[in-house]
Order: sequence, then structure tokens, then C-alpha cells
Amino acid sequence: MKLTWSHAVLYARDQTKMLDFYTNVLGFTITDRGPLAENAPEIVFLSNDPDEHHQLAMIQSRKDEEASNSVNHFAFRVDEFEDVASLNKKLAGIDGIRIMPLSHGNTLSIYFNDPEANGLEVFWDTPWHVAQPQGKPWDPTLGKQAALDWVEANFSAETGFVPRDKFYRNRQL
Ligand SMILES: [Fe+2]
Repeated sequence: MKLTWSHAVLYARDQTKMLDFYTNVLGFTITDRGPLAENAPEIVFLSNDPDEHHQLAMIQSRKDEEASNSVNHFAFRVDEFEDVASLNKKLAGIDGIRIMPLSHGNTLSIYFNDPEANGLEVFWDTPWHVAQPQGKPWDPTLGKQAALDWVEANFSAETGFVPRDKFYRNRQL
């Protein structure tokens, strides 16, 4: 059996605010919506992948005031380094969003929160694998080559630092 990750479903307090963030800031499209049953809350489906009906869904039924505490974060991969840098810039201008740029050596990531304090990560794969866990703060205003040079300088001495292809080619799960 091979389990391929598909989606996560969140409880939301303020669906409008959450949908505004996920569509206008992160670029998701609403792919479907409707009540879960008669007189039940609406579920809204979101995707940014043409092959996936939804990657996220939200149900407006959350009553507590606390931050989410059982899920650390959801993570999304982007294909272009520049996407991380431009999202970082976009998020920096939004009130209430805290951003933490962190590289795991195999990624250049930014961690941030959505408007209801759910944790998110958006990352770009570096060309390397390196043993995990590890992370170092990086500067997302660096250009692509400077960021790659920084990763190599900061992680190449760590255990298991190899070209990404070499690690995944031999991997058996
Ligand atoms: Fe992560």
C-alpha cells in the first residue's frame, strides 16, 4: 500500500477571513462548497493542484478561542525559489502574521500562521538531502544563488549531506 498525501480539513471560526487569506494571499481556488447536511455548517473545499479536488477544506464550526494545539503545521512545496521570497514579502505586509524563515538544509522554508493561528510552511526544495531534524534561520531576501551558497556553506558539514537525487534514488520505504 502506498499512501499519498491528499488533504487536511480545518475547523474555522471566521470562514470569510480564512478564505480571504487562503485564496488571496496563498492563491488557493475554492473548488466546491455546501452544507455538510441539512442545517449543518458549510464545508468549503480549496485546491491549488489541478489533479486534486481539494488540498484543504474548512468547516465553520470552531468555537474555542485557543490556537490550534494538536497540529504543528501544514506544509506546501513550491517549484520556484522566487515563490518563497515573494510570499515572504507579501506576508510581511499583513497584520497578525508572524513569519519565521527556516532552512532544513533540504529546504528553504518560511513558517507562518494563518489568521486563526494554524501553522503553515511553504518551502522550496534545495538540491541536497541532509539528515533531519535540523534547521537554521535564513534570509529570504537573498537571491537564489546567494541562498543556495548559504545552504551549502551551512549544511555541507552535517551528517548525510548528499545531492537530493542520490538520496531518493536509493530510498526504500
Ligand atoms: Fe515542515
